[in-house]
Amino acid sequence: MAKAGSTATALHGTNEPDGDVLVIFGITGDLARVMTFHSLYRLEQRGLLQCPIVGVAFDDWTLDQLVERARTSIVATGEVLDEAVFQRFAARLSYVHGDFADAATYTRVAAAVGDATTPVSYLEVPPNLFATVVKGLAGAGLTEHGRVVVEKPFGHDLASARALAEELHRYVDESRLFRIDHYLGKMGLEEILYLRFANTMLEPVWNRNYVDSVHITMAEDFGVADRGHFYDPVGALRDVVVNHLLQVVAAVAMEAPARGDTETIKDMQTSLFKSVSDADPARAVRGQFDGYRDIPGVAADSTTETFIALELGIENWRWAGVPFFIRTGKLLPVTATEVRLVFKPSPNLGFGLRDAQSTTDQLVMRLDPSTGLRFVLNAQRADAPKPRSIDLDMEFATEGGEGPTPYEVLLLAAIRGVRPRFNRQDTVEEAWRIMQPLLDAPPPVHPYAPGSWGPAEADALVAGHGGWRDPWV
Ligand code: BG6
Repeated sequence: MAKAGSTATALHGTNEPDGDVLVIFGITGDLARVMTFHSLYRLEQRGLLQCPIVGVAFDDWTLDQLVERARTSIVATGEVLDEAVFQRFAARLSYVHGDFADAATYTRVAAAVGDATTPVSYLEVPPNLFATVVKGLAGAGLTEHGRVVVEKPFGHDLASARALAEELHRYVDESRLFRIDHYLGKMGLEEILYLRFANTMLEPVWNRNYVDSVHITMAEDFGVADRGHFYDPVGALRDVVVNHLLQVVAAVAMEAPARGDTETIKDMQTSLFKSVSDADPARAVRGQFDGYRDIPGVAADSTTETFIALELGIENWRWAGVPFFIRTGKLLPVTATEVRLVFKPSPNLGFGLRDAQSTTDQLVMRLDPSTGLRFVLNAQRADAPKPRSIDLDMEFATEGGEGPTPYEVLLLAAIRGVRPRFNRQDTVEEAWRIMQPLLDAPPPVHPYAPGSWGPAEADALVAGHGGWRDPWV
């Protein structure tokens, strides 16, 4: 298959050699079961998977057991298995078992990798094992020309993020480290960048002269179920705000990259984050849903937030004075992620354009549950004497077809060396720097009822900007 051309932007293709083997550490674990096998199968189905896959884990499994796990995992996602595709996929698999702390494991991995020149090692392991595995890989000569892909979290605050990077950099160069934030694999983010910069109608109004405020909502109607052990030491701020939602802020607020290469794109993102002020604990509201403390793995006196709403300010010419409101939570009324630009009101001219029921223009970019675009405009409607709001809606799937899932995008990007799809260390550090005041002095946590929009205290944040709007679902 032809490699995406070098003339494409770095979001789609690079001059990097394709990975010629994918090594997955922790292949017997949960992430592989829920996400990885299915994504790789889908890539196989689309003819995009070209290399062998070496699974590595502690479990003493046979290859047949691994293939069986792959099959049941894919079927469990609801996929109707095409046996011929699955057989092609299964034929790529081999398995190495061993202790991640034992150098002999990496000797066996190196033997399984054979004469591949660009191994892509994907670490689906807890973060406390990142350095152990990377050290093992380096010892076996597998990092020098390869790539190392790691999952979030990248530290739990600014200091630990720096310490982790320092440790990893002892064994692998930053240019070979691919940090996954699955929001960077979402269709919506790329669509936002294209929408902003490919449209003369939109770019000129995308700033403080026209925009009153930006509202970002990531709502989930489910709780933490069996993830209490994972979630309780983390909370909403670390789980989704410092990473996923700041990626959304970047896509909405950054300047257009002057060139399509990785470093230029990442530089624009880092530069945007540098102009975001430190978060102010007085402008943040934390909430915890009733019943959270009864979940297995959650401390009986936990003050972990399952909801957070906050305001961020961006000190640059485009955005100074425009508040960016972010809210996210578990057990909210719906599951939806969107960015909403709320524009300034039009003037009320002598012939009476506005009244108490008028709204202001809004532009909604929806990332989940499906990608779409909505313009909220004022227009004459037959049932009202004054201009009233109308919605112009567009589903991206209807126009351009269903996009691949984030993990399909990211695994393929890792194999092809498409680095803008991954997080660079300086961006990670800026994100922690922005949020650090909320970690140092967390505001009190307020209870909220499951199925509500979080604690009432969150409403005060957006007073003066029309309040939180119910997301478009
Ligand atoms: C994960 C978080 O990173 O993202 C989860 O750990 C969260 O708590 C999930 O539910 C949301 O991802 P998505 O793609 O479903 O919006």
